[in-house]
Amino acid sequence: MHSWATVAAVGLLASGAAAQNMLRFACSQLVVDRIDPLVNPGQRYTPHLHQIVGGNSFNLTMDINNHDLAAKSTCTSCSFVQDLSNYWTAVMFFKAKNGTYKRVPQVGNGGPQGQLINKGGLDIYYIPSGKVTAFKPGFRMLAGNAANTDNSKVTKGNICHRCWTSTNDNTFVGGAPCTGSDTVDIPQDTKCKMIRQTIIFPTCWDGKNLDSPDHKSHVAYSGTGASGGGSCPSSHPVKLPQIMYELMWNVSSFMDKSIWPDSGNALMYSMNLGGAAAHGDYVFGWKGDSLQKAMDKNCNLNKDCPAAGLTYQAPEKYNACNVKQQAPEDVEGWLKALPMGEMAIKA
Ligand SMILES: *[C@@H]1O[C@H](CO)[C@@H](O)[C@H](O)[C@H]1NC(C)=O
Ligand SMILES: *[C@@H]1O[C@H](CO)[C@@H](O)[C@H](O)[C@H]1NC(C)=O
Ligand SMILES: *[C@@H]1O[C@H](CO)[C@@H](O)[C@H](O)[C@H]1NC(C)=O
Repeated sequence: MHSWATVAAVGLLASGAAAQNMLRFACSQLVVDRIDPLVNPGQRYTPHLHQIVGGNSFNLTMDINNHDLAAKSTCTSCSFVQDLSNYWTAVMFFKAKNGTYKRVPQVGNGGPQGQLINKGGLDIYYIPSGKVTAFKPGFRMLAGNAANTDNSKVTKGNICHRCWTSTNDNTFVGGAPCTGSDTVDIPQDTKCKMIRQTIIFPTCWDGKNLDSPDHKSHVAYSGTGASGGGSCPSSHPVKLPQIMYELMWNVSSFMDKSIWPDSGNALMYSMNLGGAAAHGDYVFGWKGDSLQKAMDKNCNLNKDCPAAGLTYQAPEKYNACNVKQQAPEDVEGWLKALPMGEMAIKA
């Protein structure tokens, strides 16, 4: 599933321009839990289920002034030792005809070229465009809206889904992320073997606030797509690296129409809502100025980058970084109900 960046780089090289370097690396599953220190700090347990990756200081509360992720974490489930950030999203579920639900497995990304070497998780991109300013300690933000049901309120160029008709994640489908036939909705089609979800974050910052009441207004988009963003508005003048999440949901074991519900959708997110409610949460936690250096030194992909002090760790290492689920409920197997409100129990 790393094919887009590869194709883009090849395309740029072919046209004689310098390829755009970017960080692009795998993170494996840290935990799947009903915790959200950004939107619902301290709440045990949050209204819907998340899959979380990154540093193991992740907890119910991560105080903006008093939670140094890099100092408090002893490991990260991401490829770079220096990245103790946390990244999380909702989780996809399949609903069967008999009314039970099962969490859709995430394909364990991992370079090179998406070999399946990880336990779940996702791929993270940091895409610079020109000179960018790395996030500051305490910085956090949200992309998307977990309660939204209106497709027209989603910018498809930034948050989207793509149907992959092959389970081979080396089979490149379509163009750049969130272009072409990508959709706001989760595709509900038995032809899809995997569904790729893309979440692109804003690239402009007000330069002052590490967060905002809605976790969004301190940042702004400067366009759409995975180009690193355009020039920033005067309200949000500071250009950030563009963060992009890339998730692969392996729906292939559910693509038998005879087990689909008679009405309503077969695939949904953990809010019991569709693609219009897709969202991603980010809490910055890179060590020292390592991310700024990585951007300044044009570090590329998931490779060691001595100029910025970045060190890649082997998948065995980051796969072993986990935290214990706190909510006492089942999230795997066939569930009688979605893990929301009351605790979910197995069918
Ligand atoms: C998480 O927070 C609780 C208190 O709410 C604390 O007891 C626990 O040690 C914390 N865990 C980590 C990994 O920091
Ligand atoms: C519900 O349907 C799924 C999919 O067909 C099946 O695997 C599961 O065993 C069923 N559960 C019950 C309780 O019937
Ligand atoms: C997707 O799920 C199917 C069915 O469980 C499994 O055989 C296959 O290996 C999985 N593919 C990937 C890419 O994880």
